[in-house]
Amino acid sequence: MTAPSNKPLANLDEWEDFVKDRYDEPGLPAKEFRAIDPEKKKEEFRNYAADARPSVREFYRLNHHYQTYDFVQAKKADFLKHDRRKMTVWEAAEYLNTLVDDSDPDTDLSQLQHLLQTAEQIRKDGHPRWFILTGFIHDLGKILCLWGEPQWAVVGDTFPVGCAYSDKIVFSDFFKDNPDSNVPRFQTELGVYERNCGLNKVHLSWGHDEYIYDVVKDRMPEEGLYMLRYHSFYPGHREGEYDYLMNDHDREMFKWVREFNQYDLYTKSHEKPDVAKLKPFYDDLINEFLPGKLSW
Ligand SMILES: [Fe+2]
Repeated sequence: MTAPSNKPLANLDEWEDFVKDRYDEPGLPAKEFRAIDPEKKKEEFRNYAADARPSVREFYRLNHHYQTYDFVQAKKADFLKHDRRKMTVWEAAEYLNTLVDDSDPDTDLSQLQHLLQTAEQIRKDGHPRWFILTGFIHDLGKILCLWGEPQWAVVGDTFPVGCAYSDKIVFSDFFKDNPDSNVPRFQTELGVYERNCGLNKVHLSWGHDEYIYDVVKDRMPEEGLYMLRYHSFYPGHREGEYDYLMNDHDREMFKWVREFNQYDLYTKSHEKPDVAKLKPFYDDLINEFLPGKLSW
């Protein structure tokens, strides 16, 4: 038998496109969990995830199987030492741009153009400079792929580990193969956590959110840090799950996470930003908040 592929997705955008399809309207829960829709029968929504393309399904199968509590601890112990490279933010963006996947260079944007597109839309809407910078750096953690990390340990909707899985996590059936499903202390509602302990004490499944948060955590405004750290936490910011792990401060800050999500999901277009023209503005912005070489 062949080992499962660590790259079931043709490219990382395949996951992003799937999320975008599920959350096709700003602010609403995923289609498959909407209880009332006058137009369509409930079953149609229930089958939505099951109808996903095989590559996306396989991606979630691997993610839900292998993202255990111990796996998260091990990845944090390794990557949060930040001993791999010293790079400026712009250098990190150019490094991410070397990620070669199966995207079509004629129709798809480069990783750098994606970042600029998100940031430029935030800028056009008149948001503060730290918010624009947050848009620019939010996916830089995808450089984990360049260090050999499998797709399921870089992207995917994140969820708490060490406590019961919400059935509103997409493809939650796949958690039956996660070894943590057989660990009783991980399967109570609170698991290893205390009620309303605050998300800072909660371990989410490992990926590009936690990584970029940790790179810049001492240097960006807290609202931006929440956006970076929780932008893929759809069960929390979109489905309203795991409220019992949040404190009032998390709830307040999640307004910003939801505000950011509009830009993350709905600003993608085929219009290609002019990298050379925009670089001076972003150099200034980076120098204002994140100057010099950072530890990655
Ligand atoms: Fe992301």
